[in-house]
Amino acid sequence: MTSKMWGGRFSAGPAAIMEEINVSVGFDQRLAKQDLNGSRAHCTMLVAQGIVNKEDGNAIQEGLTRIEKEISSGNFLFKRALEDVHMNIESRLADLIGAPAGRLHTARSRNDQVATDFRMWVRAAIETVDDEVRKLQSVLIDKAEAHADTIMPGFTHLQAAQPVTFGHHLLAYVEMFGRDRSRLTDARKRLNESPLGAGALAGTSFPIDRHLTAEKLNFDRPMANSMDAVSDRDFAIDFLCAGAILATHMSRLAEEMVNWSSAQFGFIRFTDAFSTGSSMMPQKRNPDAAELVRGKTGRMFGGLTALLTVMKGLPLTYSKDMQEDKEIVFAAFDTLELCLAATAGMVVDMQPNVERMRASAAAGFTTATDLADWVTQALNIPFRESHHITGKIVKIAEGKGCDLADLSLAEMQAVEPRITQDIFTVLTPEASAASRISFGGTAPANVRAQVKAARERFLDERTP
Ligand code: ARG
Repeated sequence: MTSKMWGGRFSAGPAAIMEEINVSVGFDQRLAKQDLNGSRAHCTMLVAQGIVNKEDGNAIQEGLTRIEKEISSGNFLFKRALEDVHMNIESRLADLIGAPAGRLHTARSRNDQVATDFRMWVRAAIETVDDEVRKLQSVLIDKAEAHADTIMPGFTHLQAAQPVTFGHHLLAYVEMFGRDRSRLTDARKRLNESPLGAGALAGTSFPIDRHLTAEKLNFDRPMANSMDAVSDRDFAIDFLCAGAILATHMSRLAEEMVNWSSAQFGFIRFTDAFSTGSSMMPQKRNPDAAELVRGKTGRMFGGLTALLTVMKGLPLTYSKDMQEDKEIVFAAFDTLELCLAATAGMVVDMQPNVERMRASAAAGFTTATDLADWVTQALNIPFRESHHITGKIVKIAEGKGCDLADLSLAEMQAVEPRITQDIFTVLTPEASAASRISFGGTAPANVRAQVKAARERFLDERTP
């Protein structure tokens, strides 16, 4: 059978393998809603401009409404022979209303049609992802508030460096996810121009009104260049790029959860809801969800690389290569949704072992910097020299196998006679953390203030 839509010149139907490689309706039916909305706006404009008469216009609109119902009730039969979602819908429209259906595609090509549909789909995807990142921020902020005073070791090089608060650590991720949201917002802004009316590539001789269709579809304006309009997929790449960075952040948090939940760290515990057992080793509680969030990041990078590669050698304007854009973006969206939900679930679920974190924060001379800072400030000794003095004191503690706070005053005075009893007020991890009150520092008081600020910056309904 020849295709009804472009079959005029073809005597035989497409070879099976041709259909196999060409068909996209299996996945691009996800654009159905956008396609219907795009067609509605286009039809309204054609009537407003006197290109299609009112009667035909009404018939088209009614037909589109019936198709929408068929699709939402699961009664629409997508046919592979009709290639893609656009031709499936148009063909069904012809079944339902007959001849007037043929007028819908006046002054339109599938090239500007698919570019418009896909832009609207990505726009909605950005909004959904942004909302889910917001929810993730919200549970992180709640957890940070609950643990503003919980002491843990802060790491550099994965070596215990200085005591920090768990709340402060979690708020670092709130910042990262905030930047992710600003990248999504930025991508949405740039995306929001309408390709509709660009035609196949050159525009049209019909007296269309692209501003009207742009407005009806909630775009800020029509795209300025018809050739750019049908060939641009930057918006999809922008989304994948923001998604890849977002996935990187989730992966880093997931990696920390994997570490923290190990017996060696013992910092957090997941309930049974987020732990899996081993089929052989009964003692194991595996953080599979965290590992999968970390692992799925690979798909996100893969998708970004794939679409960049599809686009990099394409001459203007549309080439069928570009049909490859959709599966990549759909998969990225599905992956992000899953990972965001799993990450938020794990954040809520994880229970810190406060004693264990505190003990770990005290071990390994993590308050050595506090000791050096005290010597610098109280004795007015240059920091470089204090650093040296502290090094000697650490060595004594190391030799005795005890913490800095366990040394006697006499032992410290043997290194620097001017040291006083007051030194002991800075040697505990609590004192250390509480002293970090510089802007952005880890002190519990700061964390409480930052929790409040973060709620205003990120969770307030008015936040753009
Ligand atoms: N299914 C096609 C795609 O996704 C729609 C555009 C087809 N345009 C064309 N000139 N064959 O890219």
